[in-house]
Amino acid sequence: MEVLNNYQRKKLDESNDEEFYSDPKFVYHLDENFRQYLSNIYKNEIANNSTVLDLMSSWDSYLPEEKKYKKVIGHGLNKQELEKNKIFNTYWIQNFNSNQVIPLASKSVDYCLMVAAWQYLQYPEKLTREIARILSNQGKFLIAFSNRAFWHKAPNIWISSTEEERVKYVRKVLITNGFSEPKIIKKFNQPPLNILNFFKKDPFYCLIATKE
Ligand SMILES: C[S@@+](CC[C@H](N)C(=O)[O-])C[C@H]1O[C@@H](n2cnc3c(N)ncnc32)[C@H](O)[C@@H]1O
Repeated sequence: MEVLNNYQRKKLDESNDEEFYSDPKFVYHLDENFRQYLSNIYKNEIANNSTVLDLMSSWDSYLPEEKKYKKVIGHGLNKQELEKNKIFNTYWIQNFNSNQVIPLASKSVDYCLMVAAWQYLQYPEKLTREIARILSNQGKFLIAFSNRAFWHKAPNIWISSTEEERVKYVRKVLITNGFSEPKIIKKFNQPPLNILNFFKKDPFYCLIATKE
């Protein structure tokens, strides 16, 4: 089901996404606290010997190294970043705002991950249906994000929403496009006094949805 209207899909910078991501960004987009939460969730949620697909990924997938994976597939927009990610057995490059068809067989993946990236999707509904198609029965889609973004590259729906509204929006796309009610995890580490803002951590949001 379509959730967004044309205005909500538009973004300030409509230039080609491949161009923006053509220079590798060997940085962490999320703080250490966020990455640690995420790795712990992966540790608990991902069964050993599974096939994992990290969508819209980069040089680090935050996957716990002690786990055994059958296969880890990467996807993104920058070859140098994906090349550096040593956990991938294979990867491919594709602009999801131009083409949402995922070049993988139906039911061929057990877990799909998407970190700090949903906020750039202009056609999340079609992509979500594709993710449901490639997931095995009872396969899971784990989406994590914080409150930062390359704002000019994020569609209006994201930039005009509060953090709480973003969670509701992602949930709505999921439950109307092939997934059951997601588990929602939120973690905030707001220091008690503003003066301690230096110690503020990235807010953590994660939705875990199972294929219906
Ligand atoms: C902030 S980075 C996050 C990268 C990685 N998931 C992480 O957490 O470190 C956003 C990623 O989204 C991907 N991305 C952005 N726009 C995209 C598009 N139109 N199609 C496919 N991937 C895109 C880029 O490859 C980029 O690496």
